[in-house]
Amino acid sequence: MTRTEPYALPRAIWPTAEEAGLSRLFSPVRVGAFTARTRTWVPAMVPWRSTEEGDATPEVIDWYGRFADGRPGVLVVEATGIREVPSGPLLRIGHDRFVPGLSKLVQAVRERSHGETRLLIQLIDFLRIRRRPEKETFLSRFLAVTDRHRSAVGLSGDATEHDVRAALAALPHDALLESLTVREAEALEHGERERVWDTHLPHIQELPETLPGLFADAAERAIAAGFDGVELHFAHAYTMASFLSARNVRDDGYGQTREGRVRLALEVLAAVRERVGPGRTVGCRMLADEVIEGGTGLDDAAWFASEFTRAGMDFISVSKGGKFEDAKQPKVGQAAYPYTGPSGHECMPTVRIDAPGPFGRNLPLSRAIRNAVQKINPIVPVVGCGGIGTFTQSEAALVDGDCDIVAAARQSLADPDWWHKMATGRGEEVRRCIYTNYCEGLDQKHKEVTCQLWDRPKGGEGTPPPHSGRLRSIDGKRQLLPNAWRPA
Ligand SMILES: Cc1cc2nc3c(=O)[nH]c(=O)nc-3n(C[C@H](O)[C@H](O)[C@H](O)COP(=O)(O)O)c2cc1C
Ligand code: SF4
Repeated sequence: MTRTEPYALPRAIWPTAEEAGLSRLFSPVRVGAFTARTRTWVPAMVPWRSTEEGDATPEVIDWYGRFADGRPGVLVVEATGIREVPSGPLLRIGHDRFVPGLSKLVQAVRERSHGETRLLIQLIDFLRIRRRPEKETFLSRFLAVTDRHRSAVGLSGDATEHDVRAALAALPHDALLESLTVREAEALEHGERERVWDTHLPHIQELPETLPGLFADAAERAIAAGFDGVELHFAHAYTMASFLSARNVRDDGYGQTREGRVRLALEVLAAVRERVGPGRTVGCRMLADEVIEGGTGLDDAAWFASEFTRAGMDFISVSKGGKFEDAKQPKVGQAAYPYTGPSGHECMPTVRIDAPGPFGRNLPLSRAIRNAVQKINPIVPVVGCGGIGTFTQSEAALVDGDCDIVAAARQSLADPDWWHKMATGRGEEVRRCIYTNYCEGLDQKHKEVTCQLWDRPKGGEGTPPPHSGRLRSIDGKRQLLPNAWRPA
């Protein structure tokens, strides 16, 4: 849902250094095995800077180093793949060979935050999704011809596959769609996408056996690389969120009822905990609302959060939406992107979203999750996120009980130093995010993510920050990091 008139940014009143020192935002908080110095958090954001094989490049390390300059209490490294499958220039952790590169990343964050930032890595599993095919390719190669197709084009069982394919290709588009099953039509119009309930596929049937071990192996590697803990990605469009989804119709005890849907998530948590022990932090990111028809809503999400807390989850980071089900149709040759439909807009709300606007939009959800968690274990912090970009908003969210920790993704991208500026009484110097999603557009195109407020610096706007990799994007047009800010 969008509206034509953009919402204006909320007025910002910045604290003096003394006020910041007395604030709840800049007070310590226990997060499982560690204490974060402040309740400030940079959530996972993929920068599209790894090698095609998923290795940490100097550009990835510069990216996280730049966030560490702002000294957030916690920094979460992007969604990192736990399997040996290609995923483009996104980090991977599905083999021991990734550990040395990730160790360098950890070291850079330690150094540049002066040891003040705690570091987590988000662990993700995702199922296969194909790019939207050319109609001819789909009909000639991907479609498995069945009797349904034969009868749709009026051919008998003796007709060759070649003839059936040719007859389907000759149909008007609407008639072609009618001759296909819902999944076949989706494969043609959006690109084929696996579901966790495709249990006729052996690798999907076996997910409950394979995933706990894969997550545990990845968590062990994260600890070996020096991370303070892991964030299990149970949110958005990916495998674990699909198990939790109310749309999950698996009939093997891992779907349908909420007890069935939460089962694998609890088994993953148990396997990870057993592997890393009690001395490391294990939390998750989850959806408080999928925002899709027939999807999981807040009641089930609050119940999931209670179960996670009971089972020893160390923190719960709350997100919303970001699903494939309502994503826009991709162009031919491109894959669907789960942040293009209404649920995607809820995940990264812009100033053009409908009432009540983007600012702190998702805090009522984190508040409800927190209420559920508090009943089980009040020590477990809940992380709130979505359109938070001022001190006033952050402090109010904490004081009012909307969350225990404030996360800001795009505001931290617009100005990674903003936490440190606020803490030192220099909030007036914060470069404020305008929430129009230029960065998200780059993510959608799988381009190196930057912010429109700093990626084309003019003369006199400061000096480039320390960097060990390229300072400019592959096409040379954009600066990959914001210029340095000089603390007093
Ligand atoms: C470029 C970009 C990449 C993102 N990548 C991830 C990700 O890897 N994992 C994740 O859980 N959320 C991801 N997000 C969502 C953010 O963590 C956050 O939930 C969302 O932007 C809303 O918070 P904000 O209003 O503070 O930006 C991404 C957001 C952006 C803008
Ligand atoms: S590109 Fe726009 S939405 Fe993204 S961080 Fe920068 S100002 Fe915010």
